[in-house]
Amino acid sequence: MSKPYNFFSGPAILPEEVIAKAAESIINFEGTGLSILEISHRSKEFVAVMENARALTKELLGLGSDYEVLFLQGGASLQFCMIPMNLLGEGDSAAYFDTGHWAHEAEEQAKLFGDVKTISSSKADNYTHISGADSWQAVGNSRYAHMTTNNTIYGTQWNRAKLEELYNATADTVLVGDMSSDIFCRPMDFSKFGLIYATVQKNVGPAGATLVAVKKDILGKTGKTLPAMLDYQTHIKKDSMHNTPSTYAVYVSYLTLQWIKAHGLQQIEQHNINKAQLLYDTIDNSKLFKGTAAKADRSIMNACFVFNENSSTEQIAALEKRFLQFAEERKLLGIAGHRSVGGFRASIYNAMPLAGVQALADAITDFEKTV
Ligand SMILES: Cc1ncc(COP(=O)(O)O)c(C=O)c1O
Repeated sequence: MSKPYNFFSGPAILPEEVIAKAAESIINFEGTGLSILEISHRSKEFVAVMENARALTKELLGLGSDYEVLFLQGGASLQFCMIPMNLLGEGDSAAYFDTGHWAHEAEEQAKLFGDVKTISSSKADNYTHISGADSWQAVGNSRYAHMTTNNTIYGTQWNRAKLEELYNATADTVLVGDMSSDIFCRPMDFSKFGLIYATVQKNVGPAGATLVAVKKDILGKTGKTLPAMLDYQTHIKKDSMHNTPSTYAVYVSYLTLQWIKAHGLQQIEQHNINKAQLLYDTIDNSKLFKGTAAKADRSIMNACFVFNENSSTEQIAALEKRFLQFAEERKLLGIAGHRSVGGFRASIYNAMPLAGVQALADAITDFEKTV
């Protein structure tokens, strides 16, 4: 049976080589004769995996010894709380860029721990564009600024020019980035960030671990004592082994990190651009479909598109159902848009081959002929 193309937004497609090695490790992990599922996190073999995964993440991010990398649990969603808990002291404020659902969720959680200001918001425009760093001055001296590099649900991503503006605007502030859906999709100056986090189940591994890279000197300044599990310093002191880590998720992430290193971020970016261009060109050339994100802010990870609005809501709903079925018959899975926005979304993460995107582009073109 040929494998379907997996366009789900996460858990998501992983490189075939990674899945093959991960499958092998379930029977015999690195020649130990034990399964990765049963091996102790304190075994020397797993301790080496954790150490290597942390070191390789730091290497790929181009970060130095002033940063620590952790593999935590609780998803990116727990980071929405841990970040303000660890960075905001009494009377401190934080600033958030409201560029999508997850950015907004992060901001809402931070409000439980301090004074939070919205820097700019594209909510009124259904988050179809990135409201850049123009209005940064309005928020005064915030302890940190939070942004989301890629808005998974809306298919928008901070482009290079907007990132540069952001770095300039926030130069005197700790910049915090949620990179859950685009980490390692392109080279970036990661050292501009004081804290980076990414739930791994999109570009890095299976669900169950969250990668955090944090600059050590931003921690320990709140004057508060935190629960041990919610304090980054606990995890740093214990080499990301304070409690039992998500061993399988960390191991598979390590395999993907090696795959990323073998390809290099530059080559990965070019591959992602080629795929995105093919898909967006197909959508733009179609009379039936149209993209939803502003062209300058289109994501190379999640492409969102809908039917043109020259039909009634009922007709569009029926057409959507038909197209999803049409795609499924061609083994193109996971292209329904997020339940909160509808339409279609194709997640074309690092591991998606060009052939998968070509198959989707062909489906778009061929479907149009049937309408
Ligand atoms: C950008 C972004 N941030 C945060 C999250 C939440 O991640 P989790 O479900 O691991 O908490 C997601 C999930 O899709 C996401 O895409």
